[in-house]
Amino acid sequence: MSSKLIAPSILAADFANLERDITMVNNSEADWFHIDIMDGVFVPNISFGMPVLQAIAKHAKKTIDVHLMIVDPDRYIKTFAELGSDILTVHYEACTHLHRTLQAIKAEGMQAGVAINPHTNVSLLEDTIADIDLVCIMSVNPGFGGQSFIENTYNKIQQLKALIAKKGASTTIEIDGGVTNKNAKALIDAGADVLVAGSYVFKSADQLATIADLKALANS
Ligand code: DX5
Ligand code: ZN
Repeated sequence: MSSKLIAPSILAADFANLERDITMVNNSEADWFHIDIMDGVFVPNISFGMPVLQAIAKHAKKTIDVHLMIVDPDRYIKTFAELGSDILTVHYEACTHLHRTLQAIKAEGMQAGVAINPHTNVSLLEDTIADIDLVCIMSVNPGFGGQSFIENTYNKIQQLKALIAKKGASTTIEIDGGVTNKNAKALIDAGADVLVAGSYVFKSADQLATIADLKALANS
């Protein structure tokens, strides 16, 4: 991927002013909306569900990248397609039949993503990587925004890059959790294509400038 992408995570937005924050992302240099759906079972937190995604999709003018942190995601693939998801990412750890799940996501016209927890080795994707459009490497344990970045992520990016090359795949590498201006360039240099950033963007005083900074760092 020539241009490296920034995906603000709406989990850190002000939900009482959601339309304002969506408009900010529309007007920014960000590339995607990253939408975190949590069920309180796969992760120890509940974020928001379909009605909120529907409201976001109504105003969002950029790619909608949905990150499902839920058990048995197959139940909702069709629903997420109907709600306007462009990319649907499921967790490796939540899928008993990952290959089947990936085909089902693509059959609904979405790009298929797989997220891996910090404890999940990249090599476990060896037999599915050719079918995966995007791998989301979790650089924190999923469930909450605002956590500290796990340094081992750099090793995992390099391992994933090597696996993608070995298999001749064209999978996009996304990094999710603890991304700031301190690690953005190093993550891209290691091989990342997309950086998700939640609290770093939404807790900053000038969100447009923060996104522009991240975009510049990622493409420097
Ligand atoms: C964590 C979510 C992330 C989160 C990132 O479970 O998947 O997308 O919103 O938030 P920050 O950037 O604050 O770590
Ligand atoms: Zn996420």
